[in-house]
Amino acid sequence: MATGLFRRAASRLPSSSHQVLARLHATESQAQVVSKAAAQSSAVIKTFSIYRWNPDNPSKPQLQSYEINLKECGPMVLDALIKIKNDIDPSLTFRRSCREGICGSCAMNIDGCNGLACLTKIPAAGGEPTTITPLPHMFVVKDLVVDMTNFYNQYKSIEPWLKRKSPSPMPGKEIPQSKEDRKKLDGMYECILCACCSTSCPSYWWNPESYLGPAALLHAHRWIADSRDEYTKERLEAINDEFKLYRCHTILNCARACPKGLNPGKQIQSIKHLQLAG
Ligand code: SF4
Ligand code: SF4
Ligand code: FES
Repeated sequence: MATGLFRRAASRLPSSSHQVLARLHATESQAQVVSKAAAQSSAVIKTFSIYRWNPDNPSKPQLQSYEINLKECGPMVLDALIKIKNDIDPSLTFRRSCREGICGSCAMNIDGCNGLACLTKIPAAGGEPTTITPLPHMFVVKDLVVDMTNFYNQYKSIEPWLKRKSPSPMPGKEIPQSKEDRKKLDGMYECILCACCSTSCPSYWWNPESYLGPAALLHAHRWIADSRDEYTKERLEAINDEFKLYRCHTILNCARACPKGLNPGKQIQSIKHLQLAG
């Protein structure tokens, strides 16, 4: 940038000034070399060990090591991944979008815990390398990208939209809800469908096709609890199943894994209580 400005300014000067400018340019380059050397001498090197697998060149998956200078990187694990991709290895593949814990796309396993790379601070340099692998027990598409098809199909299966039998009280307008009823959705509407919970759940690992998993069940309860929805009974019946719902054994890995601080295990318990009461 500074060099670009320097060149543009130089092109507008008479030729007699060019010798002076050439000396200035040399001084600027020397300063850059010196500052780069100084940055390198005070570098804080952190090693990341990252899962790699490429479907176009199928061989055994492996962990690949990358070293980056934390002084040239933002504070979050996603910053480190972006730096590695931009500066060292453009083939490294991962999902990300919002960079602020809203889209849910950067979910991965970091040092053994599921979480969002954009909300997880880079562990201090000097210790063990930080190991980054895809969400556990999911089919890998490439590197840190997993196949979310089954997860999204399970979400779709609980019909995550408002269902009514009677006409809207105010046609063409929103359906009103009291503050108290709206509050009942707290702890559920915040879910960003990152899949950190489902992929940390042992019951989901062993029954990924038949058990709906904590994320889909949390959303099932979100619609069951919505005062505006008129299919509560049908929704409860649809998941009253030994596998879909009752594979949850209240281990609560899901609550520990949720980066939004939600507790899907508690929502699953609420569904079970409603079924017993009904
Ligand atoms: S509480 Fe249920 S959903 Fe959550 S981790 Fe345990 S078994 Fe899975
Ligand atoms: S409940 Fe939490 S961990 Fe599970 S999908 Fe939603 S935001 Fe992610
Ligand atoms: S990039 Fe959107 S949640 Fe991390």
